[in-house]
Amino acid sequence: MILLGRELCVLVVLLVNLRLASAKHSSYQWQDSLLATTSNSWQAYVRSPATRTVSPASIVANLTLGNVTNPNGLLTSGGKPTTLTRLNASDTAPTIVVDFGQNVVGFLSVSFAGASNNTPGVRLAFSETLEYLTDVSDFSRSYNGDSITPGTDQFAVPSGPYTWLDDHGCLHGTQVCADGLHGFRYLKIYLDALPADAPYTSAYGQVEIDSLSLNFTAFLGTPDTFTGWFESSDNQLNQFWYDAVYTNDMCIDTFRVNDTDPRGAGSASLVGKLVAYDGAKRDRDPYVGDLGVAARTIYLSHDVAIAARDVLADLGDHQRADGWIPPASINDYTLALFDYPLWWVVCGYDLYMYTGDESYIQSYYDNIALVLDSYYPSTIDPATGLVTKGLGTSGGYGDYAFLPRTGPVTYYNALYVQALDNAASIATFIGGHEGDAARWTARARNISASINTYLFDNSTGAYFDTLPGISHAQDGNSISITSGVASRAQAKSVLSYLAENNARFYGNAFYDNDATGSGFSQRVYAFISFFELEARFLTGLAGSALDEIRRLYGWMASNDPGITFWEGIGDNGSKYEGDYTSLAHGWSTGVVPALTNYVLGVIPTGPAFSVWSVKPIPGDVTWARGQVPTPNGAISVDWASANNYQKFRLAVSAPTASTGVMSVPVVDTSTSVSIDGQVAWSAMNALMDSATYADGYVSVTVSGGDHVITVG
Ligand SMILES: *[C@@H]1O[C@H](CO)[C@@H](O)[C@H](O)[C@H]1NC(C)=O
Ligand SMILES: *[C@@H]1O[C@H](CO)[C@@H](O)[C@H](O)[C@H]1NC(C)=O
Ligand SMILES: *[C@@H]1O[C@H](CO)[C@@H](O)[C@H](O)[C@H]1NC(C)=O
Ligand SMILES: *[C@@H]1O[C@H](CO)[C@@H](O)[C@H](O)[C@H]1NC(C)=O
Ligand SMILES: *[C@@H]1O[C@H](CO)[C@@H](O)[C@H](O)[C@H]1NC(C)=O
Ligand SMILES: *[C@@H]1O[C@H](CO)[C@@H](O)[C@H](O)[C@H]1NC(C)=O
Ligand SMILES: *[C@@H]1O[C@H](CO)[C@@H](O)[C@H](O)[C@H]1NC(C)=O
Ligand SMILES: *[C@@H]1O[C@H](CO)[C@@H](O)[C@H](O)[C@H]1NC(C)=O
Repeated sequence: MILLGRELCVLVVLLVNLRLASAKHSSYQWQDSLLATTSNSWQAYVRSPATRTVSPASIVANLTLGNVTNPNGLLTSGGKPTTLTRLNASDTAPTIVVDFGQNVVGFLSVSFAGASNNTPGVRLAFSETLEYLTDVSDFSRSYNGDSITPGTDQFAVPSGPYTWLDDHGCLHGTQVCADGLHGFRYLKIYLDALPADAPYTSAYGQVEIDSLSLNFTAFLGTPDTFTGWFESSDNQLNQFWYDAVYTNDMCIDTFRVNDTDPRGAGSASLVGKLVAYDGAKRDRDPYVGDLGVAARTIYLSHDVAIAARDVLADLGDHQRADGWIPPASINDYTLALFDYPLWWVVCGYDLYMYTGDESYIQSYYDNIALVLDSYYPSTIDPATGLVTKGLGTSGGYGDYAFLPRTGPVTYYNALYVQALDNAASIATFIGGHEGDAARWTARARNISASINTYLFDNSTGAYFDTLPGISHAQDGNSISITSGVASRAQAKSVLSYLAENNARFYGNAFYDNDATGSGFSQRVYAFISFFELEARFLTGLAGSALDEIRRLYGWMASNDPGITFWEGIGDNGSKYEGDYTSLAHGWSTGVVPALTNYVLGVIPTGPAFSVWSVKPIPGDVTWARGQVPTPNGAISVDWASANNYQKFRLAVSAPTASTGVMSVPVVDTSTSVSIDGQVAWSAMNALMDSATYADGYVSVTVSGGDHVITVG
């Protein structure tokens, strides 16, 4: 950011003083942080391949089988090829396992140098992990009857040099078929033929492979494409942020009819559009609830909000007459989920707040009203005032995890409160809808009160999942806090209950016991965990939020395939659905909004960040810097602490047309707080009208431009 001369003078003085005062503290980083906007040290964390054409990294040597010569030959094009020889089909199939070094997604192409003249077959199996790499793919895209291949991709190798593109289709009618797009890290290639492919391929012969490469089809997030970034004193957190962005990037792609999963999800209104998919290898259909996390990662990292907007608009266009919104295009837009119409409203609010997409909000305002005023009221039990699964059409409906629960589920009610309040804000921002805003706000408070009357379990201090109360779920407890249903005292007791009962070494489980489903107390979803992380930051428990991040993301990052974040984690840190589990799932990237919104501290409080809040919640992080894109230019933030947070400096550069609130932690109430060199606060006294104090923070309202606040 560009500091004004006056601020620079103040800073230089401060820096000199602080350098003397805090020379012994390793957290001292103020000088570095002055360099924030010119720094590009964050680029070292970026995981994207450098180009769309990706070469393999290595051969998994111990998995080579049969007669293979020069296995490393296929790592580079030209030079001596890799030879697979099988003189007799009864011999071991010559097999080679290629490692791309990290999870990737796209179309493979294989450059053959030649082959014996009997069209020997090759079979390809793809997997995200070595654990699930067998002779068939690890359920890379579904092959349970709805694909043209039985789990491997096939090719008949001609005798002369030939480059084969592994795209979806068959060489001969319904024989010698390949599936096309794959999300994977490991690739097994072996010389073999399916009996069903006779006479077009032979299970013996010789094949020479010159090289392999992948056409990476997802969003290629090279450093120059980042419109937002994050860096802090904690290198591990930094790497999680960029790993999560890469995970999300792998799920942003053009909607192509033969690359969807399941196959029936193809939709004419989506084909050709850029969308945010659910998973890279599986669930290649955009689901709206997932965007509650994935779209926020998009807005904070790259200028591709269109990938979220395309999905939201398409689902809005398929709204049912009773107000219900389909979760995805799957089953011709009929998959019955109960929570996703609420996520559709919440995601519309996020789109408006982060990108200021006025035309989306105007176009879909009536659809939002229909969701809130028609569909959900049809499921409210007049006796309790609570949304009650089982009423109206909702009986057989599922949710983000297809949970077998019914009745007045806390999660649905808290999410309804959130959607009502978000919609009331939209109505207020765009104007002319005061009646809607008032009605939605009143209903939100009413439901909020009912949640607290009927669903708060006074014996444990946490919300029941539903009634009768047999378990406590992470989703309802977390969203009761983020939506403001819980008081601060309730929030603290809920979060301590979750910490005591749901913490596992690989994250926090989504249930405290197995009464609702077998294994639920051991299952962790990074998706729904994001809302617990948010709840912890909002309740001032940054230390416990960072601890949860380190367990959850640390576990995924340190287990195969590494880097990308999983759809779900099961017992003892396993892949929760075995080889079916997708290990690059956009909904699991909440570490991006968690760190940007709360540790860096930037949140939009008006559309397009016309109004914003910057409130760092540091935990044990001692400095952070970064950038958040807005339609009117970036908001740059740079903060650093010293002397165990007794000294704190926050610099913000924001678009001039905006206004905001800058908040700094004050651990010593006798201290003073200055903005742009003028004392705003001293020993618990406001010296400026724009300065206020609450919950350990001094906040100052500012107009856009460059500002520096210092504490101590
Ligand atoms: C083969 O090597 C990989 C490391 O490249 C290792 O993870 C794996 O356990 C080994 N497998 C066997 C069967 O030895
Ligand atoms: C292995 O393949 C080579 C050709 O690359 C061939 O000369 C040799 O006979 C084969 N060995 C066996 C045991 O099949
Ligand atoms: C392959 O080996 C089997 C015995 O293992 C033999 O009967 C057969 O003739 C061999 N085929 C060729 C093409 O050499
Ligand atoms: C990569 O695949 C995409 C999607 O099929 C295609 O549009 C593009 O042309 C391909 N690029 C190359 C270099 O083959
Ligand atoms: C999709 O795949 C089917 C075969 O499974 C093929 O007939 C069709 O042409 C493909 N469509 C496109 C757009 O590639
Ligand atoms: C609040 O809930 C009660 C039932 O508990 C209902 O009678 C009343 O109409 C509701 N008010 C609003 C504003 O929704
Ligand atoms: C828990 O206590 C509060 C305050 O006394 C009460 O309003 C609420 O109904 C109680 N919760 C339940 C489930 O009984
Ligand atoms: C649980 O996971 C740990 C670490 O991966 C492993 O050492 C242990 O054997 C596993 N225990 C069970 C019961 O699977």
